Amino acid sequence: MAKTKIGVLISGRGSNLKSLIDAVAAEDFPAEIALVISSQPKAAGLQHAAAANIPQATIDHRDFQTREDFDAALDAALHMKDIDYVCLAGFMRMLSDKFVDDWRGKLLNIHPSLLPAFRGLHVQERMLDSGVKIAGCTVHFVTPEMDAGPIIGQAAAPVLPGDTVETLSARILELEHKLYPRCLRLIVEGKARISGAVVAYNTGITTSGTLINPPASD
Ligand code: GAR
Repeated sequence: MAKTKIGVLISGRGSNLKSLIDAVAAEDFPAEIALVISSQPKAAGLQHAAAANIPQATIDHRDFQTREDFDAALDAALHMKDIDYVCLAGFMRMLSDKFVDDWRGKLLNIHPSLLPAFRGLHVQERMLDSGVKIAGCTVHFVTPEMDAGPIIGQAAAPVLPGDTVETLSARILELEHKLYPRCLRLIVEGKARISGAVVAYNTGITTSGTLINPPASD
């Protein structure tokens, strides 16, 4: 059976792209990455696409006069490859409402916080400043309002004494690499679907484990 085609949009390091590439390499994964697009010509993440022989394109926003023109170029490139779902993976450009509407229900993003807390930028720094004791990441569908679409899945990590932006980011990133492939699989397999403002699972999902911070001292 033909696999569902995924397009991944990046702007930088591409570690989430790498985790998706590794996940889809499993024979039973129902999707393949058919295109990687970077908004930055020098994005390090493009090397992961090259190493895995995945077609790649750079669509540099500086070559376009308007956001709409840039998004139209993205859209055309994705359609050329018959892409079914688009995963934003550290893609640091705001997308126009038209693009988001055209790809509604087909456009996923990963964000390094437990949404709806800490939308936007400089998330880990703001978490540390706020004193929260549990951090995490979220995979969600993209809607025109930034970081506000239906949540597909989340993973939590403790904030530890002495954490810096770097140590906390690294702890969250490790979870991101586990969460994104799982969420993508759920969506592609039709086991999770948008129901109004939320995502409902239509498969038995059992989750165990409790995260309490601070942990018990005994
Ligand atoms: C990741 O932490 C991702 O959650 C974040 O950018 C990083 C990209 O890393 N995305 C956002 O903040 C989007 N609002 P990567 O390039 O190594 O995947």
